[in-house]
Amino acid sequence: MVADTARSILDEEERRGLAEIAGASDLASLEAAETSTLGRRSRFQEVQRSLGTMGPVERRGIGKRTNEVRDGLRSAIAERRALLETEREDALLRADAVDVTLPGRRPRPGSLHPLTIVEYEIVDIFTRMGYRVVEGPEVETEYYNFDALNIPPENPARRVSDSIYLDVPGRPDLLLRTETSAMQIRTMESQPPPVYVIAPGRVFRNEDVTAKNMPVFHQVEGLAVDEHITFADLKGTLESFYRALLGDRRVRFTPSFFPFVEPGLSAGALCFNCEGAGCPTCGFEGWFEMMGAGMVHPNVLRGVGYDPERYTGFAFGGGYDRLAMARFNIADIRMLWDGDVRFLERFEGAR
Ligand code: PHE
Repeated sequence: MVADTARSILDEEERRGLAEIAGASDLASLEAAETSTLGRRSRFQEVQRSLGTMGPVERRGIGKRTNEVRDGLRSAIAERRALLETEREDALLRADAVDVTLPGRRPRPGSLHPLTIVEYEIVDIFTRMGYRVVEGPEVETEYYNFDALNIPPENPARRVSDSIYLDVPGRPDLLLRTETSAMQIRTMESQPPPVYVIAPGRVFRNEDVTAKNMPVFHQVEGLAVDEHITFADLKGTLESFYRALLGDRRVRFTPSFFPFVEPGLSAGALCFNCEGAGCPTCGFEGWFEMMGAGMVHPNVLRGVGYDPERYTGFAFGGGYDRLAMARFNIADIRMLWDGDVRFLERFEGAR
């Protein structure tokens, strides 16, 4: 290559290269500009390779110009790269920016389930009266669930058609507790009188699902054993309990039989849904059965080693699914289990 050609190529490549570098709008096109101006197949390299074929004087002159052009292009590339990198970082930061002036998204806290609300209310009412809360196993033995409660083996409640027994080899006496009354026995066995306890929890019966019955439901048991406890104490306690929970809704007490009390009673509330006229919610009875109660049977006291001549007591037990229904005007017990948010939202802030 002759010196004049080399010189004009260098001039041209310098101009073209600087323009391409300046015009590179991102790092990829800058890289392309670097390859095309200084890369192995660039015209600049062609000139540099031809230096060896030139005479010493020309080689020195063109060589010097070659270095000048290469240094100029390299520093233009470095400058442009620094600029493009800063721009890219700025863009990333902008994309990531948080606008602190935007309104926040309000968190949606859940609310207590109506059954939990009622359970807490029951616990509040009775702890204020001096009762203690106890809890027991959901898998019970026939002894605690029936025998110790004076319920004889031939009682129909003990049949598989009414109770849910477990299939455990060698343990035909295990069942899901059908009532919280077993906690009367467990409590008395564990302490001497006086006793004032309530025992809330889940119970299980082999029953069909209806507007007022579920095979799994909740009961709260109460037990008071002391000297001089009378039927009047039982009635007064239940009346204050219902007044605290249901206000002035009418509650009635009717005679009833349970093997572990004598005498026994049933407490019912006037149906909130039909006010006594009869509807599916109350099974067309006009009244809602809410609990069984009575004076603790002397056989039960004797069985746990309490002296029935010295101590008397009362016990009560009832489903609070129905109390929740009466308390919140819920017409169908199944709504307590559906998990429908539109229903559950009604209880936000209810406690
Ligand atoms: N355990 C009885 C039931 O489930 C209710 C009850 C409890 C009755 C305590 C008397 C005393 O029906």
